[in-house]
Amino acid sequence: MKLLTTALFATVSLALATAAGAATDKENWDLHCAKCHAADGSGATKIGQRLKLKDYTKADNQALFTDEQSLDAIKNGVKDAAGKFTMNPYSEKLSAEEMQALVPFVRSLKK
Ligand code: HEC
Repeated sequence: MKLLTTALFATVSLALATAAGAATDKENWDLHCAKCHAADGSGATKIGQRLKLKDYTKADNQALFTDEQSLDAIKNGVKDAAGKFTMNPYSEKLSAEEMQALVPFVRSLKK
């Protein structure tokens, strides 16, 4: 049921985003990123807990990566020690502008 709701939500967001042209940073975050990082960036989701995601509402954790590293993670993904993607690359799903816009958006999650 939760999956269905998530899928429906994703479909509706995608339809809205398409109707309005390019999606905003918040729409892209909710659609592509929140399932792992959580809507508020805390990482408090089932997948987030499994992947031990850092809480990006905390300044300490935001200080662990630069804007360049943030953009690199969004473009090229993140791999674990075994070389398996733990975060997929978004360079084929999002435009360069959309990926760039997510960098300050991630910073704005800091409380
Ligand atoms: C499948 C789960 C998943 C999704 C979806 C996901 N991420 Fe990640 N993300 C991760 C993992 C795993 C890491 C690395 C562990 C960590 O830093 O907490 C990470 C790290 C990051 C980092 C830190 C990079 C660094 O160098 O430390 C940023 C910024 C980030 N993600 C942004 C995003 C954005 C923006 C999206 C959506 C476009 C997104 N993530 C989607 C799992 C995910």
